[in-house]
Amino acid sequence: MINGKKDIISMNDLSAEEILFILEKAARIEKMPDRDKLLLMSGKIVATMFYEPSTRTKLSFETAAMRLGANILYFDADHSSVKKGESFSDTIKMIESYSDMIVIRHPMDGAARLAASVSHKPVLNGGDGSNQHPSQTLLDLYTIQKEKGTLENLHVAFAGDLKYGRTVHSLVKALKHFNPTIYFISPRLLAMPDYLLDDLDDAGIKYHVCEHFADCLSAVDVFYMTRIQKERFPDPEDYEKVKGVYVINRDNIEGKCKNDMIIMHPLPRVDEIATDLDTTRYARYFEQARNGIPVRQAMMTLSLEEVQTGDK
Ligand code: CP
Repeated sequence: MINGKKDIISMNDLSAEEILFILEKAARIEKMPDRDKLLLMSGKIVATMFYEPSTRTKLSFETAAMRLGANILYFDADHSSVKKGESFSDTIKMIESYSDMIVIRHPMDGAARLAASVSHKPVLNGGDGSNQHPSQTLLDLYTIQKEKGTLENLHVAFAGDLKYGRTVHSLVKALKHFNPTIYFISPRLLAMPDYLLDDLDDAGIKYHVCEHFADCLSAVDVFYMTRIQKERFPDPEDYEKVKGVYVINRDNIEGKCKNDMIIMHPLPRVDEIATDLDTTRYARYFEQARNGIPVRQAMMTLSLEEVQTGDK
């Protein structure tokens, strides 16, 4: 029931109903006995094509697929014929002919969309450049819904690298469906792109732009911290200007926020969340990463169901 959409490329492509349907499916899969899960993708082959480093997305897609009974086809760009000059499109055509589904991460915005236009098999976007990271967004929403009991009317703060942060871009797109109030906390150099703010304006979503998290902390239900992504800066000197600009720790959080505020982070972190917060009531970033398993299981099974329905 993702309405004929076999690919999951951008949160722009999913309605509120489709998002909630995926989250419900994830919750059902999470509760299933392991032996029943094994049947959901038995005999299928999932190709993972990661042109950029990843711990959580790659390994949780692979774990999720294996726990559903699928096998994994590991593509390693550095030891493939990409090194001999094979084009991206030809590479995708080959991998789709060996597998039932492709999970792809690529440094270029739009690469996952291009892969989906070439492949007849489902393509799931594991992050394309600074653009979108829909599986992360779905696990973020799953975590918020689990922790807060709702996605509606929440006050959500995003802090850190809002310019290059695809997890932020993706989640903001999705939250638009659920009447949030949003706080954007960043240095000017890493502000949210105008096209995303225009999108919020068009949708009538309330948002505030702040330079210091203390300005909004007391109002926030979900504090979504992000890493300043050194690897995305065209000019290393600009990174030096903003690195370490926000660090949250027990001292500057405890007693200054709502008791039930949760801190999320797509991870990896560098220094922006002090480890002394890990054992506080606020920390949810490791649970958030663990929620990637049922959510990615739901995405994969639903995409395959779309293919099977389409084949009939
Ligand atoms: N959150 C996230 O995308 O982590 P990885 O880069 O480790 O996959």
